[in-house]
Amino acid sequence: MKNNVYIETYGCQMNFADTELVMGILKSKGYKLAKDIDEANIILLNTCSIRDNAEQKIYSRLDHLKGVKKNNPDAVIGILGCMAERLRKNLIEEKKIVDLVVGPDEYRRLPEFIDLAYGGEKGIGVKLSRTETYDDIIPYREDGLSAWISVMRGCDKFCTYCVVPFTRGRERSRDLNSIVEEVKSLELRGFKEVTLLGQNVNSYSFEEKDFADLLASCAKAAPSMRIRFTTSHPQDLSDKLLNTIAEYENICNYIHLPVQSGSNRILELMNRTYTIEHYLNLIDKARKIIPNVSFSTDIIAGFPTETDEDHLATLEVMKKVRYDGAYMFKYSPREGTKAFQMKDDVADEIKTRRLNEIIDLQQKISWEINQSLIGKEETILIESLSKKSDEFYSGRTDSNKICIVPRNDSYNIGDYIKVRINRATSATLFGEPI
Ligand code: 5AD
Ligand code: SF4
Repeated sequence: MKNNVYIETYGCQMNFADTELVMGILKSKGYKLAKDIDEANIILLNTCSIRDNAEQKIYSRLDHLKGVKKNNPDAVIGILGCMAERLRKNLIEEKKIVDLVVGPDEYRRLPEFIDLAYGGEKGIGVKLSRTETYDDIIPYREDGLSAWISVMRGCDKFCTYCVVPFTRGRERSRDLNSIVEEVKSLELRGFKEVTLLGQNVNSYSFEEKDFADLLASCAKAAPSMRIRFTTSHPQDLSDKLLNTIAEYENICNYIHLPVQSGSNRILELMNRTYTIEHYLNLIDKARKIIPNVSFSTDIIAGFPTETDEDHLATLEVMKKVRYDGAYMFKYSPREGTKAFQMKDDVADEIKTRRLNEIIDLQQKISWEINQSLIGKEETILIESLSKKSDEFYSGRTDSNKICIVPRNDSYNIGDYIKVRINRATSATLFGEPI
């Protein structure tokens, strides 16, 4: 039972990628990965701080883990990730069952902290680094079809609402060659798709190479794989990158481009460093350069001082861009950020109403876009059996939409196939192979 680790991951894809790093580090030191929490004596939660509700989820999980600790007093319970970085030793003081707290740049020292915890001491590692990229660590991945690779860490943008620069530190990029090698080895293992991850991938920079160079190198190195990437910042999305996406067949024509708000006044208060006019021009330009490009976005409802007029401007932008999908949130004040000093003056009922209007509009747009795909051809990667029926496969289009097709002996999970769409809801396409 000793040295059996169980990790639960919360938050963004970065955190899921970090969990694979942590597993890589621990496996190399002889730890075993438990499939089930009951088999584990080391339980780690890789946590998110982006909004208050993300943290509340962890607190209730910790309350539940009290029972585990009661049954197994020797169990080590650790908090990793953004909450570890944000709350540091307060977490250990407030939550007595927590034995170690390790932030995103100190994962190499995790085995050391676990040893301390075995000796009854509490371990805290929350130093942020300007250079740590875990370049030499091979993440532990189960066999599969899709993988993510973090190509940079941290963020220097300092959007006024966001904790990430504080929890993940300054921006730094990984060695391009090591990323390309990792993509190649994933292809050899049979992976079919990789997503390059960073808080702001467009500011990737390694020796003289930028993100467009990195994407092109990955696309060339693994021609049988689909290459995706996230997240792009509207200020840094270059023409060169758009041309690169257009040039390579295996780079998905899909850009996640968070707008956050449609009001220039709010964008300025958010320190987003672009105007809505710049943003819309960028969308137009991308559509010219990349035929069939689709977009998704992030939107925050109820930022301090947001008026109904600002909110209407956000709805207007959604109507103009017609996003394929959106992640939509209520503003949540985060201690330590610049916006935290502003009064959180939009009442919760108003935030909820605005958020619901945003969600309803997006649902309507997604439905309309999906209806317009009926009769069209799409290439999908078959990922799994459909959740609802073994008679169907579930796959994904280039633009990341789920597409259900009948199961058939002529294709299998892991194949790319061409389908014609014959039915659609706002969230799902249904197709027939051609
Ligand atoms: N409140 C609400 N949403 C936030 N996001 C980041 N910080 C906050 C916050 N304090 C959203 C942004 C970002 C996404 C990852 O989370 O939309 O793009
Ligand atoms: Fe990811 Fe941000 Fe949450 Fe950290 S706070 S896990 S970077 S979404």
